[in-house]
Amino acid sequence: MRKIIIAGNWKMNKGLSDTREFVKELVDTISSLELKHTIPLIAPAYPFLQEALRESFGSAVQIAAQNVSLHSDGAFTGEVSATMLASLGLKYGIIGHSERRQYHEETDSDVLGKMHKLFEQKITPILCIGETLAQRDANQTAATILSQLKGCLHGVEMHSGNEIVIAYEPVWAIGTGRTATPEQAQEVHALIRKWLRDNYPSAVAENMAILYGGSVKPDNLKSLLACEDIDGGLIGGASLKVDDFVAMVKIANDSLA
Ligand code: PGA
Repeated sequence: MRKIIIAGNWKMNKGLSDTREFVKELVDTISSLELKHTIPLIAPAYPFLQEALRESFGSAVQIAAQNVSLHSDGAFTGEVSATMLASLGLKYGIIGHSERRQYHEETDSDVLGKMHKLFEQKITPILCIGETLAQRDANQTAATILSQLKGCLHGVEMHSGNEIVIAYEPVWAIGTGRTATPEQAQEVHALIRKWLRDNYPSAVAENMAILYGGSVKPDNLKSLLACEDIDGGLIGGASLKVDDFVAMVKIANDSLA
């Protein structure tokens, strides 16, 4: 059985005390749950990663960075390297989010470079891919997804399926309140899994967690998780309230029963 990841992408929200209080409450609440294959994960802003790691230490809650530098070290003002993230004890890093692609002009080859930096530090990349509304309307969804997979994973060897996590996030569904229907999401998730099956040993396609992202909330998570190839969510807005986040962790945990 594949793991289910409920990942909160906080983007540029929450300062030090909000981060501390949220993670503390999350850890306290989920300590009474018997989590089976569900992994709760939070991605706070860089300055508060250490606090989140400290508060979640020894619990089931995982912490991720929202980005990483393409460079190893040196004169790159404002950047944070994979080595620095690893020195905190971080285990996950989001790369290729559509907001990074859109506002910071990140390309698939940048994302591939970042992936290698994370691999070198034994940090699991959460690779985001997804089509824009214009691409969907032009019937370019499958072509876009396949081209992003090829570009971001070019030459990347995988054997177990635990090397990375993939997040399918249709850009038109992010922050818009317009979720892809479970059928629309499942269609793309099945395409991603088929591509993995065609390009990697079968364990990779079978074990890899493929998350859906784009206006996920407690109300729609259950129907998304009911789809065969959807193994969790990458959640922005609805991850900012601890009660909603806990509710989604519970929905995920119950979905395995
Ligand atoms: P959203 O964001 O849940 O607010 O749509 C998802 C994301 O950008 O990862």
